[in-house]
Amino acid sequence: MNNRQLFLSHLAQTTDFPLLIEIEKAEGIYMFGPNGEKYMDLISGIGVSNIGHRHPKVLEAIHKQLDKYLHLMVYGEYVQQPQSLLAQALVKTLPESLDNVYLVNSGSEAIEGALKLAKRYNNRREIISCIDAYHGSSHGALSVGGNEIFKRAYRPLLPGVRNIQYGDKEQLNHISTATSAIILETIQGEAGIRVADKQYFKALRERCDQTGTLLILDEVQAGFGRTGKFWAFEHFGIIPDIVVCAKGMGGGMPIGAFIASKEIMEVFKDNPLLGHITTFGGHPVSAAASLATIEVILEEKLIDTVEEKAELFKSLLKHPKIKEIRNKGLLMAVAFDSFDTLKPIIDRCIEDGVITDWFLYCDNAMRIAPPLTISREEIHTACERILKALNEA
Ligand SMILES: Cc1ncc(COP(=O)(O)O)c(C=O)c1O
Repeated sequence: MNNRQLFLSHLAQTTDFPLLIEIEKAEGIYMFGPNGEKYMDLISGIGVSNIGHRHPKVLEAIHKQLDKYLHLMVYGEYVQQPQSLLAQALVKTLPESLDNVYLVNSGSEAIEGALKLAKRYNNRREIISCIDAYHGSSHGALSVGGNEIFKRAYRPLLPGVRNIQYGDKEQLNHISTATSAIILETIQGEAGIRVADKQYFKALRERCDQTGTLLILDEVQAGFGRTGKFWAFEHFGIIPDIVVCAKGMGGGMPIGAFIASKEIMEVFKDNPLLGHITTFGGHPVSAAASLATIEVILEEKLIDTVEEKAELFKSLLKHPKIKEIRNKGLLMAVAFDSFDTLKPIIDRCIEDGVITDWFLYCDNAMRIAPPLTISREEIHTACERILKALNEA
């Protein structure tokens, strides 16, 4: 059997129409197939390769760590330098109050930890989340997701969860002294890039302060420079109580984190002790890769280029079929009138070596979230091919 047959026979399938693109190697913004195919990755493996594939500094950090040790012990017992240095680097990017990092393996796991932490901290049970939110696929993360189609088959989920409309100030009144936490994506990703305004975030913070509700911001897609700030919440002048990250954090390696104040995080130590446990969380190789990723983002000043690159995309992607472009930095949605219009365009782009996608809850918009390292010339090439696909599809 060839690789494609093995994939279809022995790997669990999640749709009847997987992309089935085979990749042998990846470098920078490019992925290479076994028969000479060359693809521009305009979606960064869904928000992961913010610094491109196989960044040399990440590879170097991984190699160095491989020569020292792999897994040693479950999370939170041994002093492992890659974890400590990563935590230090992370808190340096954050406001002073967010000074304590719990390392996990993925976005969903980080969401689980954040929800548990909030419940333990204020001993309340209600959680508010947003319609059309995506926070992951595990039971807890699914419970606070905002799309019934994905939830229905898995009920009963977590009790005490209610959804409000992201960006609607009026609905913040649902947050009460019974609410343990409100969780929201700073920028809604799978909803097709929805961005609330500064007034909304200010009102959200105020309501949380009035009611003693913890504000959890999910920056799994929006963090790590993607929107033109290291953290997307920096655009809105507020500070969350807990911030959640993953995806772009590892530079291509699996890692996630939820980050809060030491005072909040302390509750995991007692009654019961070991309030959140993970075997592999903050794996030393992933932690070393993540530290290198932060250094690359900061040293290469990638964040400074995001806004200009996003504007270049927007100025080039002009076509009667394009109805709207929504974005915050290089987290972009190019909207068409329907999925039927968009799907052949995406397929045509892939044939021409450009990988885009649609969104989980928004199938009429093209996802564009390239590595932040993409050059201006590459943006021109990508947009030329997208426009060609628009004309031909
Ligand atoms: C905003 C957001 N939160 C959480 C997750 C879950 O992350 P993971 O797939 O690493 O579990 C995702 C994944 O797409 C996401 O986009």
